[in-house]
Amino acid sequence: MFTRNSSLWATLVVVTTLVTGSQAVLAQTAAEQQQSLYDRLGGLAPISVVVSDFIETLVPDAILNANPAIDAARKRVPAPYLKYHVTAMVCQATGGPCQYQGRGMKESHAHLNITEREWDRMVVLFKGVLTTHKVPAQETNELLAIVDSTKADIVTSPQQ
Ligand code: HEM
Repeated sequence: MFTRNSSLWATLVVVTTLVTGSQAVLAQTAAEQQQSLYDRLGGLAPISVVVSDFIETLVPDAILNANPAIDAARKRVPAPYLKYHVTAMVCQATGGPCQYQGRGMKESHAHLNITEREWDRMVVLFKGVLTTHKVPAQETNELLAIVDSTKADIVTSPQQ
């Protein structure tokens, strides 16, 4: 009787441990999934580094600067100013604690006559920077979706 009871208890303990253990794993996965993109990217410090590299890559780019309006603006507008605003924007859009205080995308890009081709060039450069910083595929796709959501306001030239 004693032996039968103890093996019954042992079985119960094993089953309970397995069930509780798998629940803990499920709960952990759910918590990870609920983390904001901002947190998954590591917060403001890594975001500011990636944005800084992105702006440093965009500003001297020959394909973009072949557009005289872009070339004139990059000579007039300080890179640190763009880094500040784009960092705040990415921080806010990914669920971080920042508040973007700059102008809207339509207003700030209207005079640049940005074409589809220039947009595609910017996306290639952006992907390159994300790869350099080893941003994982899931987070890369989410960032690209955020950038893509601004395209209609930024690409205004009828030219390809
Ligand atoms: C081909 C694509 C793009 C080019 C060539 C470009 C270039 C520029 C330039 C030259 C300025 C300064 C304009 C001026 O003040 O005269 C500017 C401003 C800005 N851009 Fe872009 N941009 C592009 C796409 C984007 C995207 C995708 C975002 C964000 C998702 C972005 C965010 C900003 C912000 C936040 C500002 C500053 C707004 C302000 O002055 O308040 N840009 N951009």
